[in-house]
Amino acid sequence: MSSSASKSAPRARDSWSGQTGFLLAAIGSAIGLGNIWRFPGVSYSNGGGAFLVPYLVALIFVGIPMLWLDYAVGHKFRGSPPWALRKIIGGGEFIGWFQTFVCFVIMVYYGAVLAWGVQYTIYSVNEAWGADPTTFFLESFLEKVPGDTFSWAPAWAVMIPLALVWVLVLFVIGRGLSKGVEAANKVFLPLLVILFLALVVRAIFLPGAIEGLNAFFTPNWGALADPNVWLAAFAQIFYSLSVGFGIMLTYASYLQRKSNLTGTALVAGFANSSFEILAGIGVFSAIGFMAHQGGVSVSEVEGLTGPILSFVTFPKIISMMPGGPLFGVLFFSSLVLAGVTSLLSLLQVVSGGLQDKFGWSPARSALVLGVPATAISLVLFGTRSGLNNLDIVDNFINSVGVVSSAILFAVLCAVAGPRLGVLRAHLNSVSSVKVPKLWEPLVGIVIPVVLFVMMAMSIVKVLKDGYEGYPSSYVLIFGWGSVAVAVIASLIFTLIPWKHRPVDTHATVAQILADDADDTASIEGGAK
Ligand code: ALA
Repeated sequence: MSSSASKSAPRARDSWSGQTGFLLAAIGSAIGLGNIWRFPGVSYSNGGGAFLVPYLVALIFVGIPMLWLDYAVGHKFRGSPPWALRKIIGGGEFIGWFQTFVCFVIMVYYGAVLAWGVQYTIYSVNEAWGADPTTFFLESFLEKVPGDTFSWAPAWAVMIPLALVWVLVLFVIGRGLSKGVEAANKVFLPLLVILFLALVVRAIFLPGAIEGLNAFFTPNWGALADPNVWLAAFAQIFYSLSVGFGIMLTYASYLQRKSNLTGTALVAGFANSSFEILAGIGVFSAIGFMAHQGGVSVSEVEGLTGPILSFVTFPKIISMMPGGPLFGVLFFSSLVLAGVTSLLSLLQVVSGGLQDKFGWSPARSALVLGVPATAISLVLFGTRSGLNNLDIVDNFINSVGVVSSAILFAVLCAVAGPRLGVLRAHLNSVSSVKVPKLWEPLVGIVIPVVLFVMMAMSIVKVLKDGYEGYPSSYVLIFGWGSVAVAVIASLIFTLIPWKHRPVDTHATVAQILADDADDTASIEGGAK
């Protein structure tokens, strides 16, 4: 080993206890808020039953291939995004940090939604929102200021549970991968499935549920001619599967050397989509009930997606039904459980990046990332502007940050260092399901082009129409600003020299020697 590579003693990386632990965590990461509050509404407004066609096409031709790419890079190069992408080519580290900071930005607001979910689980017990859930959510709970003003004043009902959410997730991350993330997923994911199944069974027996399901599944085949419907399907799969922005790459880097990658990706992808469709069934059964109680048709019901679906429409439904409090507890605790496993995966990307680069322990990394993350989260999302800030940051970091990260990642793998052919050979050398050659042009050309079109269309729309009526200065600071912060932080972290190299606990002596040669070249080749 060269002197450069041995500047400090290598610290062994943690690993999953086995394939099952990894699979549960991967499914836990994929199943999140996107499945419960995003998919049902997106599907309904983009062709209903017909949406399943572009959705399945997107899953098979974009989601799974990108998942395979994440798994291949993480597993082959055995590191979090900065380390793994640096081993492809020196400058790749910047893209790795960009993915890491995109995760950082997402996690600071994602935690806030969990805090809302925690509070609403408690509110459900006595239906604390009373007769007017809209006013309760926006005015009493969030204490929301109008979209053209900004406030630092705390919204205590959000801030207190938000601080608790951070303490909990940082504690889990600080325990390390196997004792923290894996152990938490082993409890939270099965619990989520049980609670959510109970909710869906209750929902489909409500009066009016059939009308809701008809609205959800009735195909509007004409929608398939609309390119926006296809773009909505690609965006949904991307967000929902957590692909292309470092999460699955990081998780796969902790797998043992002999791991079935492609088969596991298929199971994770289809499990996530099955849960998504289950969520559609549960949500639309409940909406059918609401329409039935109000004597209107499902198409007349408003607030079918995002925060309003969960925190306004659902409380209305809960108040209408017998046994509403129990239904409410099931719904909101499912939302929290689904979200917490996704939040842990976002945190693990950042924690893993710090551990790899600086050789810190999980506890130290949790502390170093936790202090700024908690402070930013409380100040921006636990205050009275919280919902406005969240709305803007969420839109920009997803439509620009996540998508550009995925494009850069796919193009980097296609054109630099060990190319897609090598990654495909790696997948095939360890996996049951063999990756066809078609995967290479799909990942290297077709997917980046589709994603680029998707991103360009959303940027042009925002530049032309602004975003949701917010003042342009606000959009500039919080929307473009959140992407700029990720870029600047990535540059700074890329410029910090490596003094350490992560070590794989599962390697044989021969593999360690081969890795040493690689790592030395990477550390020296990219040394600043
Ligand atoms: N995949 C996660 C979700 O659906 C981020 O919320």
